[in-house]
Amino acid sequence: MRLQDKVAGVTGAGMGIGRAICLALAAEGARVAVTDLNFDWASQVVEEIEARGGEAIALKLDVTQATDIVVALKAIVDRQGRIDIWCNNAGVSTMNCFVDLTEKDWDCNMNVNAKGVFLCSQAVARQMVQQEPNSEGIRGKIINTASMAGKRGAVPFLAHYVASKFAVVGLTQAMAVELAPHGITVNAVCPGYVETSMQEQEVTWEARLRGISEEEVCQLYINDTPLRRLERPEDVAKVVVFLASDLAQFITGEAINVNGGAFMD
Ligand SMILES: NC(=O)c1ccc[n+]([C@@H]2O[C@H](COP(=O)([O-])OP(=O)(O)OC[C@H]3O[C@@H](n4cnc5c(N)ncnc54)[C@H](O)[C@@H]3O)[C@@H](O)[C@H]2O)c1
Repeated sequence: MRLQDKVAGVTGAGMGIGRAICLALAAEGARVAVTDLNFDWASQVVEEIEARGGEAIALKLDVTQATDIVVALKAIVDRQGRIDIWCNNAGVSTMNCFVDLTEKDWDCNMNVNAKGVFLCSQAVARQMVQQEPNSEGIRGKIINTASMAGKRGAVPFLAHYVASKFAVVGLTQAMAVELAPHGITVNAVCPGYVETSMQEQEVTWEARLRGISEEEVCQLYINDTPLRRLERPEDVAKVVVFLASDLAQFITGEAINVNGGAFMD
């Protein structure tokens, strides 16, 4: 197993991509802190991991609340002694025409998607810098779930979300440079059209905004994807496992596309 006894934490892990990341990390032997705004959803993921023979704990963590983050990290370190892998995955989206976007849309997307990554990463990095490095000088790995929208701004109805995800890609690079001397790597994954509850909501909003059916919206997503299917959360989770493993020891500051070819830069 690639991650035997590594200690990992994942945010926004109660469903969707975060859940898949937790299951994949645990399947590779990591002990996983499954964190989410919703403690019950996190607990359900822990039950799934335990049913498969893995080790996990559930923690309530709202990534916009610095006090939640301190409490959650202390719980992990008190129990496991260190944090090897931290996945900033929590995210939200809303959709609207740019001229109709509200300040609430902007604040909500920026707070969870961008500020949440800053707050969690800073607290995690402060812990990781104190840890003993491995034989290759690595003290920890931070992996952010950005988005195709973090590289491709030319999409309708998502200006605020695009801004928040460009921020995640920029932050990934800036943190990678500052944390490299401490043996901490920082990378991001950029998913495309992933079948989750977030996407279900987006399909409904986009259908209304474009004046087409939800089926037509899904077909647009598939047509935009050269590999010709919607993405699964597991497609993203596999790349997160790679970045968390020793195979990716010399990769930092990257934002890796995992999108079936929907965007290639
Ligand atoms: N679904 C897609 O098509 C897609 C594409 C690209 C990127 N992403 C990104 O992937 C990540 C996961 O998205 P998903 O599709 O699995 O979404 P989802 O809505 O299915 O799940 C998101 C999870 O995050 C949690 N969450 C929301 N706000 C939180 C907060 N303040 N603190 C902690 N947890 C919070 C929710 O409770 C939920 O469990 C997000 O960052 C999203 O932007 C998704």
